[in-house]
Amino acid sequence: MEVRARAPGKIILSGEHAVVHGATAVAASINLHTTVSLLFSSDNDNMLQLNLKDMALEFSWPIGRIKDTLPDFDAPSPSTPKCCSIESLRAIASLVNELNIPEAKIALASGVSAFLWLYTAIQGYKPATVTVTSELPLGSGLGSSAAFCVSLSGALLALTASAGLDYSNQGWATYEETGLDLVNKWALEGEKIIHGKPSGIDNTVSTYGNMIKFRSGELSRVKSNLPLRMLITNTRVGRNTKALVAGVSERKLRHPDAMASVFDAVDSISKELSAIIQTPANDDISVTEREEKLEELMEMNQGLLQCMGVSHASIETVLRTTLKYKLSSKLTGAGGGGCVLTLLPTLLSGIVVDKVIAELESCGFQCFIAGIGGNGVEVCFSGAPSS
Ligand code: MEV
Repeated sequence: MEVRARAPGKIILSGEHAVVHGATAVAASINLHTTVSLLFSSDNDNMLQLNLKDMALEFSWPIGRIKDTLPDFDAPSPSTPKCCSIESLRAIASLVNELNIPEAKIALASGVSAFLWLYTAIQGYKPATVTVTSELPLGSGLGSSAAFCVSLSGALLALTASAGLDYSNQGWATYEETGLDLVNKWALEGEKIIHGKPSGIDNTVSTYGNMIKFRSGELSRVKSNLPLRMLITNTRVGRNTKALVAGVSERKLRHPDAMASVFDAVDSISKELSAIIQTPANDDISVTEREEKLEELMEMNQGLLQCMGVSHASIETVLRTTLKYKLSSKLTGAGGGGCVLTLLPTLLSGIVVDKVIAELESCGFQCFIAGIGGNGVEVCFSGAPSS
């Protein structure tokens, strides 16, 4: 039987980086997904295979080699998420180093390490083929690594006794709350391997979907009463989340008081932003007023992200371009390139939207309007159950 799980990417409306230091952030899922297919092998080839379809890369390991390297998983415990120790990480690195990943794609190495950890810790030594496809641009701030860890954990847990799945909808099944919590905890362990010290916001929004407010590992759901339309511009400038997060922490060490005030200001922005989104709308004027407030908050958040040192020349170009059309933007995710969000107010004409997009694309950027706030991780099964 094939198990497929898909998990959405995300945008952060406010609070990235500051959330790592205890401030509130607000994030939403987007309708671009990463899908993981899991097929246990029945042909006794005793291999674990990972296919990264979009990159045309295939990696495989003899199960015996994995067992020698990570010897503790004869009886894995899927219901108890486990942190990858330094020793296990070193052992996994030796398996990944043998793959000779092309230099241009070396950033994938940490994702392959996360795969080996999650697979072995949840499923043990079962031979299988795992295939990954994604609609999310990699390393661009849209939560591609979290969507990978969530969809992988979702697929790996779906056939275990600890999975709480709700089949009430045709097609894709959703996890019940306890199942979601478990997927989210495992995905965070994968994210730690990729990003060092993530706040957990990316995997949380990818797991639960919709819109969330997140602070110190605690999530609360934001019930949006304001349908938001966002233009997402991918600057195509790749960057490293781990390094950017570390850079902000170093700045905090150098200027603890100033940075504490910056994080406090972001916290207030996120709280105000989520309150605005949740206020019931009465008429068009109030929608417009609320959109204007959001625009101002986004601009303020962007200014504070500049204070944290995570903006980039390409981001500034997007900001300048959208400002020409009186539109407000902020970076989303880790910054240093990646993606920029621009709020498209309800009454904005389609002609203006087309013009902004044309101008941004003429700078070499990629633009899209993504649907916001859909489901989190979902699972589906096909084929006959394996014996
Ligand atoms: C990355 O999408 C968001 C950051 O705040 C890192 C994190 O929260 O782990 C930059």
